[in-house]
Amino acid sequence: MKVVIRPTREDANRLTARLIAARLRRKPDLKLGLATGRTMEAVYAELVRQHREEALDFSLCRTFNLDEYAGIPAEHPGSYRTYMNTHLFDPVNIDPRNTFLPDGMAEDLHAECALYEQAILESGGIDLQLLGLGGDGHIGFNEPLSAFESRTRAVMLNPATLAQNSEMFGGDPDRVPKRALTMGVGTILEAAQIVFLVTGKAKAEIFAKAVEGPVTSMISATALQFHADCVAVADEDAASLLEGREHYRWLFANDPEWENFR
Ligand code: GLP
Repeated sequence: MKVVIRPTREDANRLTARLIAARLRRKPDLKLGLATGRTMEAVYAELVRQHREEALDFSLCRTFNLDEYAGIPAEHPGSYRTYMNTHLFDPVNIDPRNTFLPDGMAEDLHAECALYEQAILESGGIDLQLLGLGGDGHIGFNEPLSAFESRTRAVMLNPATLAQNSEMFGGDPDRVPKRALTMGVGTILEAAQIVFLVTGKAKAEIFAKAVEGPVTSMISATALQFHADCVAVADEDAASLLEGREHYRWLFANDPEWENFR
């Protein structure tokens, strides 16, 4: 894993968007894995800005989201489909037929998950996967004890996750769907490249465990330590408990790979 620390949340968001945009410009038919959550809103806003002002083109891009709630329709204001339409898909020139999320209303959730895996496979696999970090260390909706070899499947959400995600459900954790469909940890690890964005003081402790702690399925994000091309982008707040932060700062300042992103 590589860790890039930027001074502010805005800098971290902007760098993340620039990494995605650079890949999309190099490969217009990019297969892009997407994440939801408050962290990603500014990243999508920056991609929309680049689409409007710098001709960033999504017309050939295909997207696969990490997860979706089960039991609420796509049109529900709290669904991840609504989130994606609002923050990215509607404002850019992506073909809606090229945007994929698992269908949380499918009659047979198991079959739906198998179809989702197949769709990713048939697309040739995900080139770049964007990831955020849940308060309990989840990636996607892979709650603690998710097997590192897990695939797209239906999962139960932990009470802490329901509470954290209640904002879109009137602030009431009881109204958040308790089940979701999520890419598995194994599915995520198959992406060719991963950009893992974590910001804010509240995530500092779990982020340090994810990046530098022992690998454990109790913290799904520690599985990213196995990935050969994973960049963790953080602001100073989220990075504040990393033991190696001086070293990561030095690497970013000196590694020619980052020349165009400093
Ligand atoms: C949800 C999503 C995750 C996301 C997490 C963090 O649980 N399923 O993919 O990373 O939220 O959300 P936030 O950015 O709001 O902290």
